[in-house]
Amino acid sequence: DWQMGSYIDEAVARIREQVGDEEVILGLSGGVDSSVAAALIHRAIGDQLTCVFVDHGLLRLNEGDMVMDMFVGRLHAKVIRVDASEVFLGKLAGVTDPERKRKIIGAEFVEVFQAEASKLKNAKWLAQGTIYPDVVESGGTKTKKATTIKSHHNVGGLPETLGLKLLEPLRELFKDEVRALGVALGLPADMVYRHPFPGPGLGVRILGEVKKDFADLLRRADAIFIEELRNTIDPATGKSWYALTSQAFAVFLPVKSVGVMGDGRTYDYVVALRAVQTSDFMTADWAELPYSLLKKTSGRIINEVRGINRVTYDVSSKPPATIEWE
Ligand code: XMP
Repeated sequence: DWQMGSYIDEAVARIREQVGDEEVILGLSGGVDSSVAAALIHRAIGDQLTCVFVDHGLLRLNEGDMVMDMFVGRLHAKVIRVDASEVFLGKLAGVTDPERKRKIIGAEFVEVFQAEASKLKNAKWLAQGTIYPDVVESGGTKTKKATTIKSHHNVGGLPETLGLKLLEPLRELFKDEVRALGVALGLPADMVYRHPFPGPGLGVRILGEVKKDFADLLRRADAIFIEELRNTIDPATGKSWYALTSQAFAVFLPVKSVGVMGDGRTYDYVVALRAVQTSDFMTADWAELPYSLLKKTSGRIINEVRGINRVTYDVSSKPPATIEWE
Protein backbone atom coordinates (compact mmCIF):
# COMPACT_ATOMS: atom_id res chain seq x y z
CA ASP A 1 0.00 0.00 0.00
CA TRP A 2 0.91 3.69 -0.11
CA GLN A 3 2.26 3.91 3.45
CA MET A 4 4.49 0.89 2.99
CA GLY A 5 5.66 2.29 -0.34
CA SER A 6 6.85 5.50 1.26
CA TYR A 7 8.37 3.56 4.15
CA ILE A 8 10.42 1.56 1.65
CA ASP A 9 11.56 4.76 -0.12
CA GLU A 10 12.75 6.23 3.17
CA ALA A 11 14.45 3.03 4.30
CA VAL A 12 16.20 2.71 0.94
CA ALA A 13 17.40 6.30 1.11
CA ARG A 14 18.71 5.75 4.63
CA ILE A 15 20.64 2.62 3.65
CA ARG A 16 22.17 4.36 0.62
CA GLU A 17 23.24 7.30 2.74
CA GLN A 18 24.73 5.06 5.43
CA VAL A 19 26.58 2.71 3.12
CA GLY A 20 27.62 5.05 0.31
CA ASP A 21 29.57 3.04 -2.24
CA GLU A 22 30.87 0.49 0.26
CA GLU A 23 30.11 -3.23 0.21
CA VAL A 24 27.88 -5.17 2.56
CA ILE A 25 27.77 -8.83 3.66
CA LEU A 26 24.62 -10.45 5.02
CA GLY A 27 24.14 -13.91 6.50
CA LEU A 28 21.05 -15.29 4.84
CA SER A 29 19.36 -18.12 6.74
CA GLY A 30 16.11 -18.46 4.85
CA GLY A 31 14.25 -17.17 7.89
CA VAL A 32 11.88 -14.21 7.68
CA ASP A 33 14.11 -11.56 9.26
CA SER A 34 17.29 -12.16 7.28
CA SER A 35 15.26 -12.59 4.08
CA VAL A 36 13.43 -9.30 4.47
CA ALA A 37 16.65 -7.52 5.44
CA ALA A 38 18.32 -8.94 2.32
CA ALA A 39 15.45 -7.91 0.06
CA LEU A 40 15.41 -4.38 1.47
CA ILE A 41 19.17 -3.86 1.31
CA HIS A 42 19.26 -5.35 -2.18
CA ARG A 43 16.55 -2.90 -3.24
CA ALA A 44 18.76 -0.10 -1.89
CA ILE A 45 22.23 -1.04 -3.09
CA GLY A 46 21.89 -3.97 -5.51
CA ASP A 47 25.23 -5.65 -6.18
CA GLN A 48 27.00 -3.87 -3.35
CA LEU A 49 25.30 -6.55 -1.22
CA THR A 50 26.64 -10.10 -1.04
CA CYS A 51 24.59 -12.65 0.88
CA VAL A 52 26.25 -15.68 2.42
CA PHE A 53 23.93 -18.64 2.83
CA VAL A 54 25.40 -21.40 4.99
CA ASP A 55 23.65 -24.72 4.41
CA HIS A 56 24.40 -26.84 7.48
CA GLY A 57 22.60 -29.85 6.02
CA LEU A 58 19.92 -29.58 8.69
CA LEU A 59 17.45 -27.54 6.66
CA ARG A 60 14.02 -28.63 5.54
CA LEU A 61 13.28 -30.34 2.23
CA ASN A 62 14.45 -28.25 -0.76
CA GLU A 63 14.95 -25.24 1.49
CA GLY A 64 18.37 -24.39 0.13
CA ASP A 65 17.17 -24.49 -3.47
CA MET A 66 14.15 -22.38 -2.58
CA VAL A 67 16.32 -19.70 -1.01
CA MET A 68 18.54 -19.64 -4.10
CA ASP A 69 15.57 -19.54 -6.50
CA MET A 70 14.10 -16.64 -4.59
CA PHE A 71 17.17 -14.47 -4.12
CA VAL A 72 19.21 -15.32 -7.18
CA GLY A 73 16.48 -16.43 -9.58
CA ARG A 74 13.91 -13.75 -8.83
CA LEU A 75 15.65 -10.88 -7.05
CA HIS A 76 18.98 -11.29 -8.92
CA ALA A 77 20.90 -10.80 -5.69
CA LYS A 78 24.48 -12.03 -5.22
CA VAL A 79 24.35 -15.08 -2.97
CA ILE A 80 27.22 -17.36 -2.04
CA ARG A 81 25.82 -20.74 -1.07
CA VAL A 82 28.13 -22.69 1.19
CA ASP A 83 27.32 -26.37 1.38
CA ALA A 84 28.81 -27.24 4.73
CA SER A 85 26.64 -30.26 5.48
CA GLU A 86 29.52 -32.71 5.61
CA VAL A 87 31.50 -30.53 7.97
CA PHE A 88 28.53 -30.15 10.32
CA LEU A 89 27.67 -33.84 10.24
CA GLY A 90 31.29 -34.67 10.93
CA LYS A 91 31.40 -32.42 13.98
CA LEU A 92 28.11 -33.88 15.24
CA ALA A 93 29.13 -37.53 14.86
CA GLY A 94 28.71 -39.38 18.15
CA VAL A 95 27.21 -36.35 19.93
CA THR A 96 23.86 -36.99 21.62
CA ASP A 97 23.42 -34.25 24.22
CA PRO A 98 21.01 -31.53 22.98
CA GLU A 99 22.92 -28.57 24.41
CA ARG A 100 26.23 -29.88 23.08
CA LYS A 101 24.66 -30.27 19.67
CA ARG A 102 23.40 -26.66 19.81
CA LYS A 103 26.83 -25.37 20.83
CA ILE A 104 28.59 -27.31 18.08
CA ILE A 105 26.17 -26.16 15.41
CA GLY A 106 26.28 -22.53 16.60
CA ALA A 107 30.07 -22.45 16.80
CA GLU A 108 30.53 -24.15 13.43
CA PHE A 109 28.04 -21.76 11.87
CA VAL A 110 30.06 -18.76 13.00
CA GLU A 111 33.25 -20.46 11.83
CA VAL A 112 31.96 -21.18 8.33
CA PHE A 113 30.35 -17.78 7.96
CA GLN A 114 33.48 -16.01 9.12
CA ALA A 115 35.69 -17.96 6.74
CA GLU A 116 33.43 -16.98 3.86
CA ALA A 117 33.07 -13.38 4.97
CA SER A 118 36.82 -12.90 5.30
CA LYS A 119 37.20 -13.75 1.60
CA LEU A 120 35.09 -10.72 0.75
CA LYS A 121 37.93 -8.28 1.18
CA ASN A 122 36.05 -5.17 0.12
CA ALA A 123 33.20 -5.54 2.55
CA LYS A 124 32.93 -2.83 5.17
CA TRP A 125 29.52 -3.70 6.59
CA LEU A 126 27.81 -6.69 8.13
CA ALA A 127 24.05 -6.57 7.75
CA GLN A 128 21.77 -8.39 10.17
CA GLY A 129 18.04 -8.92 10.32
CA THR A 130 17.81 -7.76 13.93
CA ILE A 131 14.23 -6.67 14.70
CA TYR A 132 12.89 -4.51 17.53
CA PRO A 133 12.04 -7.34 19.95
CA ASP A 134 15.65 -8.61 19.60
CA VAL A 135 16.98 -5.16 20.43
CA VAL A 136 14.76 -4.88 23.49
CA GLU A 137 15.64 -8.38 24.68
CA SER A 138 19.40 -7.97 24.48
CA GLY A 139 19.30 -4.43 25.87
CA GLY A 140 17.72 -5.69 29.05
CA THR A 141 14.85 -3.19 28.78
CA LYS A 142 12.48 -6.09 29.12
CA THR A 143 12.64 -8.40 32.13
CA LYS A 144 14.99 -11.19 31.23
CA LYS A 145 13.70 -14.73 31.18
CA ALA A 146 14.28 -16.27 34.58
CA THR A 147 16.18 -19.23 33.21
CA THR A 148 17.60 -20.06 29.84
CA ILE A 149 16.21 -23.49 29.17
CA LYS A 150 17.80 -23.83 25.78
CA SER A 151 20.74 -21.89 24.39
CA HIS A 152 19.56 -20.10 21.25
CA HIS A 153 22.24 -19.55 18.73
CA ASN A 154 22.94 -16.12 17.33
CA VAL A 155 25.86 -14.34 15.74
CA GLY A 156 26.50 -11.74 18.42
CA GLY A 157 30.05 -10.42 18.42
CA LEU A 158 30.65 -11.26 14.77
CA PRO A 159 30.94 -7.70 13.41
CA GLU A 160 33.75 -6.84 15.84
CA THR A 161 35.68 -10.03 15.03
CA LEU A 162 35.39 -9.27 11.34
CA GLY A 163 36.11 -5.57 11.79
CA LEU A 164 32.88 -4.58 10.10
CA LYS A 165 30.30 -1.91 10.74
CA LEU A 166 26.84 -3.10 11.62
CA LEU A 167 23.85 -2.46 9.34
CA GLU A 168 20.49 -3.33 10.88
CA PRO A 169 17.69 -1.79 8.83
CA LEU A 170 14.88 -3.67 10.63
CA ARG A 171 15.84 -2.54 14.14
CA GLU A 172 12.72 -0.46 14.61
CA LEU A 173 10.20 -2.95 13.29
CA PHE A 174 7.97 -5.48 14.97
CA LYS A 175 7.52 -8.92 13.44
CA ASP A 176 4.21 -8.11 11.73
CA GLU A 177 5.75 -4.98 10.21
CA VAL A 178 8.72 -7.00 8.97
CA ARG A 179 6.30 -9.42 7.29
CA ALA A 180 4.30 -6.63 5.65
CA LEU A 181 7.55 -5.07 4.44
CA GLY A 182 8.66 -8.42 3.01
CA VAL A 183 5.45 -8.79 1.02
CA ALA A 184 5.72 -5.18 -0.22
CA LEU A 185 9.27 -5.94 -1.38
CA GLY A 186 7.96 -8.82 -3.46
CA LEU A 187 8.82 -11.79 -1.24
CA PRO A 188 6.18 -14.52 -1.50
CA ALA A 189 3.59 -14.48 1.30
CA ASP A 190 4.31 -18.20 1.86
CA MET A 191 7.88 -17.38 2.81
CA VAL A 192 7.07 -14.33 4.88
CA TYR A 193 4.35 -16.02 6.92
CA ARG A 194 6.29 -19.17 7.66
CA HIS A 195 6.41 -20.78 11.07
CA PRO A 196 9.64 -20.11 12.96
CA PHE A 197 12.46 -22.59 12.42
CA PRO A 198 15.25 -22.98 14.99
CA GLY A 199 18.82 -22.05 14.08
CA PRO A 200 20.13 -25.58 14.78
CA GLY A 201 17.41 -26.83 12.45
CA LEU A 202 16.82 -30.55 12.21
CA GLY A 203 19.81 -30.97 14.52
CA VAL A 204 17.41 -30.64 17.47
CA ARG A 205 14.59 -32.53 15.77
CA ILE A 206 16.59 -35.73 15.36
CA LEU A 207 16.79 -37.02 18.90
CA GLY A 208 20.24 -38.07 19.97
CA GLU A 209 22.94 -38.52 17.35
CA VAL A 210 22.38 -36.69 14.07
CA LYS A 211 22.90 -38.85 11.00
CA LYS A 212 22.41 -38.01 7.35
CA ASP A 213 20.00 -40.90 6.77
CA PHE A 214 17.86 -39.75 9.67
CA ALA A 215 17.84 -36.18 8.36
CA ASP A 216 16.77 -37.39 4.91
CA LEU A 217 13.86 -39.41 6.33
CA LEU A 218 12.81 -36.59 8.62
CA ARG A 219 12.88 -33.99 5.81
CA ARG A 220 10.45 -36.06 3.75
CA ALA A 221 8.07 -36.78 6.64
CA ASP A 222 8.11 -33.14 7.70
CA ALA A 223 7.37 -31.93 4.16
CA ILE A 224 4.33 -34.21 3.94
CA PHE A 225 2.99 -32.91 7.27
CA ILE A 226 3.47 -29.27 6.24
CA GLU A 227 1.85 -29.91 2.86
CA GLU A 228 -1.21 -31.47 4.51
CA LEU A 229 -1.45 -28.59 7.01
CA ARG A 230 -1.31 -26.07 4.17
CA ASN A 231 -3.89 -27.97 2.11
CA THR A 232 -6.44 -28.61 4.84
CA ILE A 233 -8.84 -25.70 5.26
CA ASP A 234 -10.81 -25.33 8.46
CA PRO A 235 -14.41 -24.65 7.37
CA ALA A 236 -15.19 -22.58 10.48
CA THR A 237 -12.50 -19.96 9.79
CA GLY A 238 -11.69 -20.50 6.12
CA LYS A 239 -8.01 -20.69 7.13
CA SER A 240 -5.55 -23.50 6.55
CA TRP A 241 -4.34 -25.52 9.51
CA TYR A 242 -0.87 -24.19 8.74
CA ALA A 243 -2.18 -20.68 9.39
CA LEU A 244 -4.11 -21.85 12.46
CA THR A 245 -0.99 -23.27 14.11
CA SER A 246 2.02 -21.32 15.34
CA GLN A 247 4.58 -24.03 14.71
CA ALA A 248 4.32 -27.54 13.33
CA PHE A 249 6.94 -30.10 12.39
CA ALA A 250 7.98 -33.74 12.51
CA VAL A 251 10.52 -35.13 14.98
CA PHE A 252 12.70 -38.16 14.26
CA LEU A 253 12.75 -40.78 17.00
CA PRO A 254 15.70 -43.15 16.74
CA VAL A 255 13.72 -46.14 17.95
CA LYS A 256 12.48 -49.01 15.84
CA SER A 257 9.12 -50.68 16.02
CA VAL A 258 7.56 -53.61 14.23
CA GLY A 259 5.05 -53.22 11.44
CA VAL A 260 3.56 -55.15 8.53
CA MET A 261 3.69 -54.31 4.90
CA GLY A 262 2.18 -56.65 2.31
CA ASP A 263 3.06 -60.08 3.64
CA GLY A 264 6.29 -58.92 5.17
CA ARG A 265 7.32 -57.66 8.55
CA THR A 266 8.97 -54.26 8.87
CA TYR A 267 11.20 -53.03 11.64
CA ASP A 268 11.56 -49.31 11.11
CA TYR A 269 11.80 -45.87 12.70
CA VAL A 270 9.12 -43.68 14.27
CA VAL A 271 8.29 -40.02 13.75
CA ALA A 272 6.29 -37.81 16.08
CA LEU A 273 4.21 -34.96 14.72
CA ARG A 274 4.15 -31.76 16.77
CA ALA A 275 1.79 -28.83 16.22
CA VAL A 276 1.23 -26.03 18.71
CA GLN A 277 -0.75 -22.85 19.14
CA THR A 278 0.82 -20.02 21.10
CA SER A 279 1.06 -16.26 21.15
CA ASP A 280 4.53 -15.93 22.67
CA PHE A 281 6.20 -19.38 22.45
CA MET A 282 6.75 -19.26 26.22
CA THR A 283 3.65 -21.33 26.79
CA ALA A 284 1.89 -23.35 24.12
CA ASP A 285 -1.05 -25.68 23.66
CA TRP A 286 -0.88 -28.72 21.44
CA ALA A 287 -3.15 -28.12 18.47
CA GLU A 288 -6.40 -30.03 18.18
CA LEU A 289 -5.85 -30.95 14.56
CA PRO A 290 -8.70 -32.73 12.79
CA TYR A 291 -8.36 -36.52 12.93
CA SER A 292 -8.83 -36.63 9.17
CA LEU A 293 -5.71 -34.48 8.71
CA LEU A 294 -3.69 -36.67 11.08
CA LYS A 295 -4.96 -39.79 9.36
CA LYS A 296 -4.03 -38.61 5.89
CA THR A 297 -0.63 -37.35 7.03
CA SER A 298 0.23 -40.57 8.83
CA GLY A 299 -0.95 -42.69 5.89
CA ARG A 300 1.14 -40.69 3.46
CA ILE A 301 4.28 -40.71 5.62
CA ILE A 302 4.14 -44.45 6.16
CA ASN A 303 3.44 -45.18 2.49
CA GLU A 304 5.80 -42.66 0.96
CA VAL A 305 8.75 -42.63 3.34
CA ARG A 306 10.30 -46.09 3.34
CA GLY A 307 12.12 -46.49 6.66
CA ILE A 308 9.32 -45.04 8.79
CA ASN A 309 6.49 -47.37 9.76
CA ARG A 310 4.88 -45.57 12.67
CA VAL A 311 3.65 -42.02 13.26
CA THR A 312 2.60 -40.58 16.61
CA TYR A 313 1.05 -37.23 17.56
CA ASP A 314 2.47 -35.26 20.48
CA VAL A 315 -0.27 -34.21 22.90
CA SER A 316 1.94 -32.37 25.41
CA SER A 317 1.55 -28.71 26.22
CA LYS A 318 4.27 -26.28 27.25
CA PRO A 319 4.93 -26.26 30.11
CA PRO A 320 5.87 -28.82 31.20
CA ALA A 321 6.95 -30.04 27.75
CA THR A 322 8.86 -27.66 25.47
CA ILE A 323 7.83 -27.06 21.87
CA GLU A 324 10.92 -28.76 20.43
CA TRP A 325 11.81 -32.20 21.72
CA GLU A 326 15.39 -31.20 22.46
P1 XMP B 1 11.04 -24.51 23.11
O1 XMP B 1 11.41 -25.84 22.56
O2 XMP B 1 12.09 -23.94 24.03
O3 XMP B 1 10.98 -23.53 21.87
O4 XMP B 1 9.67 -24.49 23.72
C1 XMP B 1 10.49 -22.20 21.89
C2 XMP B 1 10.76 -21.59 20.54
O5 XMP B 1 12.16 -21.43 20.35
C3 XMP B 1 12.60 -22.16 19.22
N1 XMP B 1 13.92 -22.74 19.53
C4 XMP B 1 15.08 -22.30 19.03
N2 XMP B 1 15.35 -21.33 18.15
N3 XMP B 1 17.65 -21.86 18.32
C5 XMP B 1 16.65 -21.12 17.78
O6 XMP B 1 16.94 -20.25 16.96
C6 XMP B 1 17.44 -22.86 19.21
O7 XMP B 1 18.37 -23.50 19.66
C7 XMP B 1 16.08 -23.08 19.57
N4 XMP B 1 15.51 -23.96 20.43
C8 XMP B 1 14.17 -23.73 20.39
C9 XMP B 1 11.55 -23.21 18.97
O8 XMP B 1 11.56 -23.65 17.61
C10 XMP B 1 10.30 -22.47 19.37
O9 XMP B 1 9.84 -21.62 18.32
